[in-house]
Amino acid sequence: MSSRKSRVNPGYMEKLYSFYCPFYDWVFGKLLGPGRRKAFNYLSRRPDQRVLEIGVGPGSTLEFYPPRTDFVGIDISAAMIEEARKKAANLNSGSRFHLQVMDATNLEFPDNHFDVVMAAFVITTVQDPHKVCREILRVVKPGGQIIAVNHTRSQNGSLWGRVEDVMAPLFVRIGFTTDLDVIKAMNEAGISVQEAVRCNLLNTGRIIMGTKP
Ligand SMILES: C[S@@+](CC[C@H](N)C(=O)[O-])C[C@H]1O[C@@H](n2cnc3c(N)ncnc32)[C@H](O)[C@@H]1O
Repeated sequence: MSSRKSRVNPGYMEKLYSFYCPFYDWVFGKLLGPGRRKAFNYLSRRPDQRVLEIGVGPGSTLEFYPPRTDFVGIDISAAMIEEARKKAANLNSGSRFHLQVMDATNLEFPDNHFDVVMAAFVITTVQDPHKVCREILRVVKPGGQIIAVNHTRSQNGSLWGRVEDVMAPLFVRIGFTTDLDVIKAMNEAGISVQEAVRCNLLNTGRIIMGTKP
């Protein structure tokens, strides 16, 4: 089973995102917002479906969930979860929001539990992306929806891919790695990736749709 650790230091990431928390939406909102918003065009809108969002951050996506969603959001940063709870408290969407500090590498949920798992800009911030992808696969129901929004390293052999490799040590200081092929990691974990749609600035992001076979 593949478990290649990335260059990410989990303790560093937790501290960094807790530091970013008060101004996260302001700094990253414009950059990440369009892709995040577009991803919700692909979300199944069945009422009462059970949704897990990993790396929920300050809850920037909560307003996009359809009414009557049974929502669980987790994040490694307690500051982010606190911020997400404030957003949830101000929403009157008829959904149930449960927000909890948790490591996406060890999800404390039973197998086959969620109809949907959403992962927006988180897989490149974790040390063991393959383990996180396996956890996503474990907790989603067979046939359930998996949506990841992320930058993903360009194809092997491309010049831009090599630039992304060189940039990775710098970008990991800012909060994510650029040298991870997220689509490949998802496939290797056993997620059946069905489609990847380009998004965000210069089309550098992907909305990656998958399922549990
Ligand atoms: C780039 S932010 C994305 C936040 C939000 N999903 C968004 O779309 O803006 C990455 C988030 O993942 C969280 N994170 C990093 N490592 C994690 C882990 N191992 N488990 C859970 N959350 C993690 C960070 O605390 C941060 O809130």
